[in-house]
Amino acid sequence: MTLDIQAVRQDFPILHQEVHPGKPLVFLDSAASSQKPRQVIDALEYYYTHSHANVHRGLHVLSEAATDAYEKARDKVQKFINAAHREEIIYTRNTTESMNLIVQSWGRANLSQGDVVILSVMEHHANLVPWQMLAAEKGFTIRYVPLCDDKTLNMDALKAFLREGNVKAVSLTHVSNVMGTVNPLKEIAALAHEAGAITIGDGAQAVPHMKVDVQDLDVDLYAFSGHKMCGPTGIGILYGKQAILDAMPPFMGGGDMISRVTLNGSTWNELPYKFEAGTPAIAEAVGIGAAVDYLSGLGMENIHAHGQELVEYAHDRLAEIPGLTLYNPDAPYRSGVATFTLPEAHAHDIAQILDSEGIAVRAGHHCAMPLHKEHFHIPATTRASFYLYNTTEEVDKLVDGIYKVKKLFNR
Ligand code: ALA
Repeated sequence: MTLDIQAVRQDFPILHQEVHPGKPLVFLDSAASSQKPRQVIDALEYYYTHSHANVHRGLHVLSEAATDAYEKARDKVQKFINAAHREEIIYTRNTTESMNLIVQSWGRANLSQGDVVILSVMEHHANLVPWQMLAAEKGFTIRYVPLCDDKTLNMDALKAFLREGNVKAVSLTHVSNVMGTVNPLKEIAALAHEAGAITIGDGAQAVPHMKVDVQDLDVDLYAFSGHKMCGPTGIGILYGKQAILDAMPPFMGGGDMISRVTLNGSTWNELPYKFEAGTPAIAEAVGIGAAVDYLSGLGMENIHAHGQELVEYAHDRLAEIPGLTLYNPDAPYRSGVATFTLPEAHAHDIAQILDSEGIAVRAGHHCAMPLHKEHFHIPATTRASFYLYNTTEEVDKLVDGIYKVKKLFNR
């Protein structure tokens, strides 16, 4: 089976609009945030119209309905990423919050001077800044795995860092949000475990596009966001192996995360609630459950195949444009994005001119400043990112738009 893209597009009301007179929307910015299908929007509306109350608190019908919907969504996420236990699925606000939870809870409890954490130069700020903040306080060392010339992770360097010893954690993106590089997380997890380190995966750009099986990857902790996978904003997931989550102290204190509170101190609730302080994003959790249903209904294999087809087509077409530089590895090591610069125009000018044609792309450093400034030595790139509702005709419009940019700048 393959995707019927025209039928898929009918599920996304936002796509059917002109953003400027005579310019229908061409949405190529899904790596920043994907659009939402009617099924997810309807689930949110149904929840607020029929079922809303606070969860885990009231003994009334609506509180039970809300709790049921909130917990059923957890089961859906567990199945979607093949986690062994539902308790291993923690609701957070987004990938960034999941990463901060990991650093502040696991990192604070386990890292001190002499320890090493391995990151890479392709990381999103969410997997850099929290570690740097804690390292400044605790004095552990961060090593950054460099890239090979083909824009893949330098596995020899990673192995050399592991051989040096004292590595406690290897925390890497599964798929780069800038280059689309797919990192061999399963192989990395095996190497890290051999060296006595845990593996942490940033799955924000992976889970929307490919079948992720956390047990097969054997990662210890893994983070992703609802809003990049057709779900609402304000909901993210932290997956963790039960034994690791059990040993981690809470990240935030408050209601729901406790077992008993006295004026002399408190004890903690069991998983997953130990990490879900306060009234959670209930509707958004229901929404991520609906998103998982939607993606599973279409089939992640089909979504992946369509994404790969689009990316290959986009790279072939963009490579024809004189002077354009692409910042993506070769197939099969890339996913979801085509990122480029033009010698004659700044990334922001390119994005603005494309916008005047109805084409939405992202320009800048994409929250990966070290990759741009310290690896590529450029201030910014323009990124077109593709998802299940995009077509090859839209890629053609992007290419036409880039020729328009070139014409304007070469006058
Ligand atoms: N991390 C998101 C992106 O790459 C926001 O655009």
